[in-house]
Amino acid sequence: MTLPTKVAPTIHTSAAQPATPSTTPWSAPDNQRDSGQAVVELKNAELAFGDRVLWRDLNLTIREGEYFAVLGSNGTGKTSFLKVLLGLLPLTRGTVSVTGERPGAASRHVGYVPQQRGFSPRTPLRARDLVAQGIDGHKWGIRLRRRAVNERVDELLDKVGAGDYANAPVGLLSGGEQQRLRIAQALATDPELLLCDEALLSLDLNHQYIVSELVNQQRVDSGSAVVFVTHDINPIIDHVDRILYLAGGSFKIGTPDEVMRSEVLSELYGADIEVLRSNGRIIVTGRPDNTHHISSQEGLIP
Ligand SMILES: Nc1ncnc2c1ncn2[C@@H]1O[C@H](COP(=O)(O)OP(=O)(O)OP(=O)(O)O)[C@@H](O)[C@H]1O
Ligand SMILES: [Mg+2]
Repeated sequence: MTLPTKVAPTIHTSAAQPATPSTTPWSAPDNQRDSGQAVVELKNAELAFGDRVLWRDLNLTIREGEYFAVLGSNGTGKTSFLKVLLGLLPLTRGTVSVTGERPGAASRHVGYVPQQRGFSPRTPLRARDLVAQGIDGHKWGIRLRRRAVNERVDELLDKVGAGDYANAPVGLLSGGEQQRLRIAQALATDPELLLCDEALLSLDLNHQYIVSELVNQQRVDSGSAVVFVTHDINPIIDHVDRILYLAGGSFKIGTPDEVMRSEVLSELYGADIEVLRSNGRIIVTGRPDNTHHISSQEGLIP
């Protein structure tokens, strides 16, 4: 796959608040990447649970090789966005396709690092079994000879620094050790679309760096599109092409420089928000619902 060239993008804003449905749906031009295969396409997409609209009038194309971050406070619909792409949640309006197919039908092209939940201490799997599931799990329908699978598992364990505990029961590993295995599992099939839901959570700084480099390498080497949900943009800021920032039923889409600005986030939140830059880090202060979004690194709110 050839990576598309980066071109200056435009900020797109949701057209409507939850309580006031749009009569003229916002319609963006195709995103800034005007070449390369579309991996994700959403048209006039809306996701609501009852009266509660998480997002609506979302028109978005993510192309091969794009690193796309999804930010927003708890409950704004980030994980739900990934679940739509996985075919686990239906849109309430509009259409979505993944690698040109209905989302559920495209799972063989998709790697997924779910939002973290610990394994029970009794889970009867070794670390390497978990990674192998990403390769020869029945749902992927891929048949590889055992030796080839073992070699691929060893390679992936090594990449995420999990070789030392390859044969340990997963339920007895620490949260960060388990998380590294999930990342290895998601990379196992060389996916066209890599979905990461707070994939750096529980990782120490060194492994945050290793894992974010690995995810980016997948994009560079294979042209995978990456959709990365995070509360902290800083560990991935060097790689991100565009951000979808969700807040209270509205959203903004644009490059980090375009979206992570005081005036843009103040308009999105309808409150005075200050975005500061310090030593290459982005710090957001004054967000109305920021109580749980303290950066693990510096106690700053990204
Ligand atoms: N199947 C469902 N039925 C009803 N409500 C749901 C369903 N799935 C999610 N929700 C609600 O939708 C909202 C968004 O959930 P989601 O998990 O997408 O949030 P999030 O942005 O990932 O939050 P967090 O940062 O806490 O992970 C939440 O309020 C959640 O309770
Ligand atoms: Mg979530």
